[in-house]
Amino acid sequence: MRVDRFLSNLPCFNRKQVRLLLVERRIKVDGQIVSDPHFEVREFSRVECDDQVLQVGKPARFFMLHKPMGCVSATRDPQHSTVLDLIHEPDKDDLHIAGRLDFNTTGLMLITNDGSWSRRLTQPQTKLPKIYYVETEQPITAEYTRTFAQGLYFAFEDLTTQPAELTLLTSHSGRLAIVEGRYHQVKRMFGHFDNKVLRLHRERMGPLLLDSTLQPGEYRPLSAAEIALF
Ligand code: URA
Repeated sequence: MRVDRFLSNLPCFNRKQVRLLLVERRIKVDGQIVSDPHFEVREFSRVECDDQVLQVGKPARFFMLHKPMGCVSATRDPQHSTVLDLIHEPDKDDLHIAGRLDFNTTGLMLITNDGSWSRRLTQPQTKLPKIYYVETEQPITAEYTRTFAQGLYFAFEDLTTQPAELTLLTSHSGRLAIVEGRYHQVKRMFGHFDNKVLRLHRERMGPLLLDSTLQPGEYRPLSAAEIALF
């Protein structure tokens, strides 16, 4: 959010006072004096006026989890274990999932407390490619590749899916890149050919690859370089 809007939203300043505070160089964001009203304040920035703290965010946290089969992509579930049950960190209630997976889908899952970071990643405009390894009950033919590349009509949402890239690996397996995340999207795409997906594993989200040293159910913090990818 712009710093002028952030300050005006506080009960203590009106817009005229905010303009003056900025011109008089009395506002600091993360230790730096800020006078530009357009300056972006992040969710976790420390904002001060005359060295008095107006907001101190909790530090942002980012994790990569290897989601196992048989757990729900939710923070709470009355029946099943959830991906959050696998995370052993303080302030777990602040964490949320950036891009869900189905109950039996395995693979890369990102978990954070930074809403603007996860929004950037998951909003449709970003068109972040998600790469899935898929195994199916019936053989996969070259016709699938052509159909997925053209887009498939989903009657329920009344939309045509974005072009998706399928690479055939064996007669019953492939690697699929999709840039959106519709409900059960991959299963429904193969369902168009009456072909059941038997195994689905997310290998990658954009430039970020699942760490091959993580066993199903294990997680680790993202490095600064990985966080900066998005
Ligand atoms: N598409 C699906 O059908 N399931 C997932 O878990 C992810 C993508």
